[in-house]
Amino acid sequence: MKNLYGIFVFGVLAVLFWVEGQSLGVADDVKKDESQKNGIKSPKNEAKWREKMQELYRSLVEITTDTSSEQRFNAPENRSRIEKNAKKLMDRAHDLGQKGVSPDSDPTIQMVAGLFQDETKRAYLALKHGNRAYARGVLNQVGSYCIACHTRNPSGPNFASLPLEPTSKTLSGIEQGRFYAATRQYDRAFDAFLKVVDDSAAPVQRPLEWEQAIRSGLSIAVRVKKDPDQAQSLVERVIGAKKAPFFLRQDAIKWKESIATWREEIPRRALTEEGLYVEAMQLIAQARELQKYPMDHAADVLYLRATAVLHELMQKAPQGRHVQDALFMAGVCYDVLRPLNLDDLHEIYYEACIKKVPHSPTAEVCYRRYEQSTYEGYTGSSGTHIPLEVREKLDHLEKLAQKSELKAAP
Ligand code: HEC
Repeated sequence: MKNLYGIFVFGVLAVLFWVEGQSLGVADDVKKDESQKNGIKSPKNEAKWREKMQELYRSLVEITTDTSSEQRFNAPENRSRIEKNAKKLMDRAHDLGQKGVSPDSDPTIQMVAGLFQDETKRAYLALKHGNRAYARGVLNQVGSYCIACHTRNPSGPNFASLPLEPTSKTLSGIEQGRFYAATRQYDRAFDAFLKVVDDSAAPVQRPLEWEQAIRSGLSIAVRVKKDPDQAQSLVERVIGAKKAPFFLRQDAIKWKESIATWREEIPRRALTEEGLYVEAMQLIAQARELQKYPMDHAADVLYLRATAVLHELMQKAPQGRHVQDALFMAGVCYDVLRPLNLDDLHEIYYEACIKKVPHSPTAEVCYRRYEQSTYEGYTGSSGTHIPLEVREKLDHLEKLAQKSELKAAP
């Protein structure tokens, strides 16, 4: 069944590719002008955005320090600062999601901003209601949202170091790595993640953290740095780790193969909308071939590379003719990658894809994936229980996706 589904999806992609391929070579210069017109880059909103980011950075320094230990988080003298910072994060998160604010045209920015806003609001309300343990858990991981926006690909600044640091002595290696990645200090972040990976006790004592360090480091090496050597140095450590769980070592062996092929590829740098589209599609096709089952992580290096390209495509041509396919493909990639704390991101891409081109074959494919993911999400040991409001949303999206609506129109 799954196989048939895969063939179907790729059949659709192949058809899309073939149809679009007929008009390859359409004046890309004209397209570029169009995308610039549609973009919202202006010196003024770039400066404003930077200001907001700097404010987020200052809040994150304090939040990271304050959430690093339970004792510190609950000390009466720290409470008002923690609440103030939680509110600041929530307010800034709200600002980021406003239309026309971001200097980056990738629709991902708005999606992540929305999730960031929901999460910071949850943390703030939990604090207000005295649910401190929960609030601490959420705030301690809030950097995931910064990381999701910042490590999409090499776009934006990369700082060797920034002046403010969390001051807590109890900060763990993974917390350090996350802080540096969230604040775009990528070399320091990679080193911090590597240290966790090198800790021989980590796979046994803190397996979740160990796996997170591997995934976060890999994402930086592959997407931000685009550096096969850096990626390989990390992957070899995983393969060599004596206490590593078998499945992770097996994945790492496949990652190493993907990295070797990547290094051998002719240095090719797609710049046009068409070129990026074709590159992303090829990477995803290779990834699907490598996977033995839908959630197999063996092809993660290819999926990471594909997402970096897709983000570039959406940044360059946010109104281009491949946006709906890019949204669909991003959904397919993130469905496998499931970034930390953003494991519903793929559904948001599918939904955006349906809304971008309602009543089209692409929307139907996106709906099918959305529906499948929803069912999986609401399936447990006692069966599938879909809440009413979720059912209503499914019905709404299905109608929006279906082609028959077009025929029904007068
Ligand atoms: C919704 C997406 C998004 C989220 C969430 C986000 N950022 Fe950013 N941030 C960006 C983008 C995009 C840029 C780069 C803009 C550019 O191209 O210059 C940026 C730039 C920055 C910069 C560099 C500013 C400068 O002076 O150039 C810092 C620092 C920063 N972010 C910190 C943070 C921190 C800390 C968080 C989380 C608490 C965060 N950001 C959350 C998208 C985001």
